[in-house]
Amino acid sequence: MKRREISFSPPDISEAEIAEVVETLKSGWITTGPRTKLLERRLAAYIATGDNHADADDYVDRVVCLNSATAAEELALRILGIGPGDEVIVPAYTYTASASCVIHCGATVRFVDIVKDGDPLTHLPEMDYRKVEEVINERTKAIVPVDLGGIVCDYDRIYEIIEKKKELFHPTESDGTPLGELSSRIQRSIGRIAVVADSAHSLGASRTVEGRKQYCGQIADFTSFSFHAVKNFTTAEGGALTWRQISGVEDKEIYSMLQLLSLHGQNKDALSKSKRGSWEYDIIGPWYKCNMTDIMAAIGLRQLDRYPDLLERRTSIINKYDAVCDELGITHLNHHVPGMDSSNHLYLIRIPGITEEIRNEIIRKLGDEGVAANVHYKPLPMMTAYGRDCSEYPNSYDYYHNLISLPLHTKLSDEDVEYVCEILKKVAGEYC
Ligand SMILES: Cc1ncc(COP(=O)(O)O)c(C=O)c1O
Repeated sequence: MKRREISFSPPDISEAEIAEVVETLKSGWITTGPRTKLLERRLAAYIATGDNHADADDYVDRVVCLNSATAAEELALRILGIGPGDEVIVPAYTYTASASCVIHCGATVRFVDIVKDGDPLTHLPEMDYRKVEEVINERTKAIVPVDLGGIVCDYDRIYEIIEKKKELFHPTESDGTPLGELSSRIQRSIGRIAVVADSAHSLGASRTVEGRKQYCGQIADFTSFSFHAVKNFTTAEGGALTWRQISGVEDKEIYSMLQLLSLHGQNKDALSKSKRGSWEYDIIGPWYKCNMTDIMAAIGLRQLDRYPDLLERRTSIINKYDAVCDELGITHLNHHVPGMDSSNHLYLIRIPGITEEIRNEIIRKLGDEGVAANVHYKPLPMMTAYGRDCSEYPNSYDYYHNLISLPLHTKLSDEDVEYVCEILKKVAGEYC
């Protein structure tokens, strides 16, 4: 077989994205402006229905585009008023951004181990929900489920647990500032631990409840998405935050506060200030700078046109990988099970009976054959920033020790996919 070079996750940028970026550069407006606002409306429609052409009016005020998923999660925690003295539950098995935002806000991360071998059906490394129940206490203010690889977590179970523990929840009192007043009102209205989903991988993922599709973004109280260069849907860097309607709180209030939080607390953005005679502005709070630019949004607008086709292509690659892994007896994420449709972001495999050293050797051998592989993720407690001690999270370590992420992206030709399958059989087949 002729050698091929297969990269792990290159961006899929067509002439349409390039043309839209050029158009934006020529338009005279390159920072947050009309294209960012249009992308928010288009994403709202997509999240509402999965259909680009749907009427987005009901959802328009519930998407804010930002410069990353990290910023999106952090702003969700900030608008919820989460800070010193509060605890947030995060799976031990995730990327640092799920947890670091909690620390940025001054709150404490409570890691929870995953269930052994992940969910029995999808193999998603989901938190052990019995442990979630155990760690909830009067300081717990939020939980961050991670829809890893594009697969939707068991939100029914999460909501059941936090409803059961409702009496332990005490909303934060307002400190009298506009943000403090809104945060306190949001916490009182939600009336329980807030669900702040990390759906960095999961734009377009859905589950079906009583015959109705529910997309990521409609399930948790707040949901963050990543549009980083390696993601299914990219704006180079970028992300978005969306939320479910909260009774007694206008979507517009949340939208405006998120605008303020993302733009120095300044009550007029650059576009509004540029209108004739309209220079004066106020600074409401000494806040952050994490807005999306129209250049990024230009990429996103054209990516969104192509997104349903991109997802379909990913499904067809997954079907091919599934067949080979099943033949070799290799466990893999099950992206499409009844009642669940993944966004097909990562293809994780676990090779039974091998050590961490053998796993690393297999990754090296795949690399020698031109196939770039990866590991998603080394559990956070193993990392320096989180203490380098995974002993309390044995299932996370176990899940990680024999895990390999195969290249899954839409720049793979059919021949590339065949090549990856053949190399996997040759290299991993030796150890199966
Ligand atoms: C699970 C998870 N959450 C959050 C993020 C952060 O995304 P961003 O780079 O857009 O901030 C990532 C990025 O890879 C991720 O994998």
